[in-house]
Amino acid sequence: MEALNPEDFLKRLSDHREAFWEKMTAERKSYGAEKPLSPEIILRRLQFGVVMERKAAEVSAPWVSHLPELELQHCLSEYVANELKHASILRKRIAELNGDPDVLWKNPLAELRQLWDFHAALGSFCELFASVQYGHEEFFPRTSKSFIERVEPIDPQTASIYRDTLLADEAGHEWLAPEILKRYATNAGTQARCLEALQMGCELFGRAIQSFNRTLPA
Ligand SMILES: [Fe+2]
Ligand SMILES: [Fe+2]
Repeated sequence: MEALNPEDFLKRLSDHREAFWEKMTAERKSYGAEKPLSPEIILRRLQFGVVMERKAAEVSAPWVSHLPELELQHCLSEYVANELKHASILRKRIAELNGDPDVLWKNPLAELRQLWDFHAALGSFCELFASVQYGHEEFFPRTSKSFIERVEPIDPQTASIYRDTLLADEAGHEWLAPEILKRYATNAGTQARCLEALQMGCELFGRAIQSFNRTLPA
C-alpha cells in the first residue's frame, strides 16, 4: 500500500470508526446499554468513567517526550492533566454518593484490562492516537449525551458534571489527534499500523462496553 495523503488517511480511519459505531449502536439495546438508570447504575457508570479517564491519561503521558514539537508536547500535557482532573471529579462525585471510587480501578473487568493493556503496549504515539483519541474517545460525547438526558431528572449534579466539565473539555482537545496523525503518520507502514490499532482498539472497546453493561444490576 502506498502512503495516503493526510485527508484520505484520516478518512480511512474515521470510516472504520463510524462503521464500528453503527454496529455498536445497533447492538446497544441487546446488552442493556439503554436500561433505565437507578442509583446503583449511575454509581457503576461513574466508576467506569474513573478507569477510562485515568487510563487515557496514563497511556498518553509517556509519549509527551516523544513528540518532536514543543507546542504539541504542551497540548498533550494539558490533555493528560484534563483526563486526570476528570478522573478526580468523578471520584469525588462517587464519594458524595457513598460509593467506592476505585472499585473498578482495583478490580477491572477482564475486557477493560485487555483494552488498556493493548494501548499501553502500542509502539508509537501515532498508533495510540489513532486508537484512543481518534478512535473510541470520539464515541464519548455521543454516549454521554444519552446518559445526560437520562440522568438529568434523577441526579442533576451528575448530569452537570458530564455536560459542563467532561464534555466541555473534550471539545477543547478533539483537534489534537487529527493534527498529530496528519503531521506524523505520513508513511505507508505507519498508516497501516494506525489503522490496525484503531480496528483492534474499537473491537476491544466494544467488548469492554458490552461486558460492563452485562454486569450492571437488573
Ligand atoms: Fe475526559
Ligand atoms: Fe477525553
